[in-house]
Amino acid sequence: MDPALTTLHRLLEEHADEIIDDGTAWVRAESHADLSSRPYAETRGLVAQCLHFYRAHIFAGDTGPREAFIEVVTSNRSNLKFSVSTLLRGFLSFREAMTRLLARLELPAEQALAIVRRIDVVSFEASFRTADIYVAKLNRVLDATREELIRKDKLAALGGLVAGVAHEINTPLGVAVTAASLVADRLHEVEAAFTAGTLRRQDLQQGLIHAQEAARMTLGNLRRAAGMVGNFKQIAVDQTSEARREVALGPYVREVVASLGPMYRRTPHRVLVQVLQDVELTTFVGAISQVCTNLVHNALMHAFPGERPGQITLTVDRQGDGGALLICRDDGAGMDAQVLRRIYEPFFTTQRGRGGSGLGMHIVHNLVTDLLGGSIAVESSPGQGTAVTIQLPNLSAEVDLAAQAPERP
Ligand SMILES: Nc1ncnc2c1ncn2[C@@H]1O[C@H](COP(=O)(O)OP(=O)(O)OP(=O)(O)O)[C@@H](O)[C@H]1O
Ligand SMILES: [Mg+2]
Repeated sequence: MDPALTTLHRLLEEHADEIIDDGTAWVRAESHADLSSRPYAETRGLVAQCLHFYRAHIFAGDTGPREAFIEVVTSNRSNLKFSVSTLLRGFLSFREAMTRLLARLELPAEQALAIVRRIDVVSFEASFRTADIYVAKLNRVLDATREELIRKDKLAALGGLVAGVAHEINTPLGVAVTAASLVADRLHEVEAAFTAGTLRRQDLQQGLIHAQEAARMTLGNLRRAAGMVGNFKQIAVDQTSEARREVALGPYVREVVASLGPMYRRTPHRVLVQVLQDVELTTFVGAISQVCTNLVHNALMHAFPGERPGQITLTVDRQGDGGALLICRDDGAGMDAQVLRRIYEPFFTTQRGRGGSGLGMHIVHNLVTDLLGGSIAVESSPGQGTAVTIQLPNLSAEVDLAAQAPERP
């Protein structure tokens, strides 16, 4: 062994208590009030542990005791910062105590220097290691906090949606109730006249016409409300309960479009599927079907207000690292910037009162960015049609969080 190390070894054996006491005194003198007010034995225990791991590290090259020590100290969840500064002071205290000892013993300068160097190297290593672990642990805490915030944000958004739905549904339900009571009133009048024997054919006819009108109004408004509830259910549905599976995207989109036949077959418009390169990817297929349905529905509802036959094309292509590109394009009326800007906003619709609830694109956006982990962009301008471009990642490489989640009661 190098003579400086042999000396250091001897000093640590013979002067352990002295070094520990000196180190402890240094920590208590140099530290913050909250540290120096801790019990003496506690601080001394810390310095003693430092000495223990220095010994293992310097002479046996064993970093195990150091790792264990850092782990214990940085695991103080209630006050990570405090623990780390304590630990760093522990390292310094040892160096300080050793320098004092070397000065007292009047060792040859060259040897003393070699010893201090060696201690410095180990101290720096330990400090960097502590900093690394500290940062890693802080990051974990931050990640957890961020997830928590996102969860809260989603809950708040859902709360807003519930309030919005309640507000939106209130109108058609209110109208339906008024109309239904109108029906009841008319029928009551007819019945009263009949019982009294004063019912004229003309009154009967008039009464029935009124009742029919009111009934039609009731029905229309109830349908609107039911449609909204249906849309809302799509948002509220727990999408993580759907299993992901591998799918050939091209054929799947063809299947979905075929199933939408009843929606467009009796219109002059055409819906085409174009598969440039097929992609096999693992994803939530139900969500993809939902997205295609909403996009085709939108094009049929909004893009072709006139008589002119329109064309809707769904294009599937490969993209990047096993991902897919899905584009829904129509050659219809397009939208102006004001509509485009608000397209994902829940309850934003230009068809209020004509069957639009304004949830379609909000649902599409949520599904694509949240569940499917992809991105979405809409390009459109008046008279230039609309193109919705969706990028979908392959989810096979990711950990199946749904499978890992604890069972729900
Ligand atoms: N392909 C399109 N062409 C022209 N305008 C569109 C197109 N897609 C959407 N829009 C416009 O964006 C608005 C919002 O669309 P969104 O799907 O969110 O609601 P909606 O279709 O009106 O109602 P819902 O989908 O709930 O029945 C529509 O009202 C329409 O003005
Ligand atoms: Mg829509």
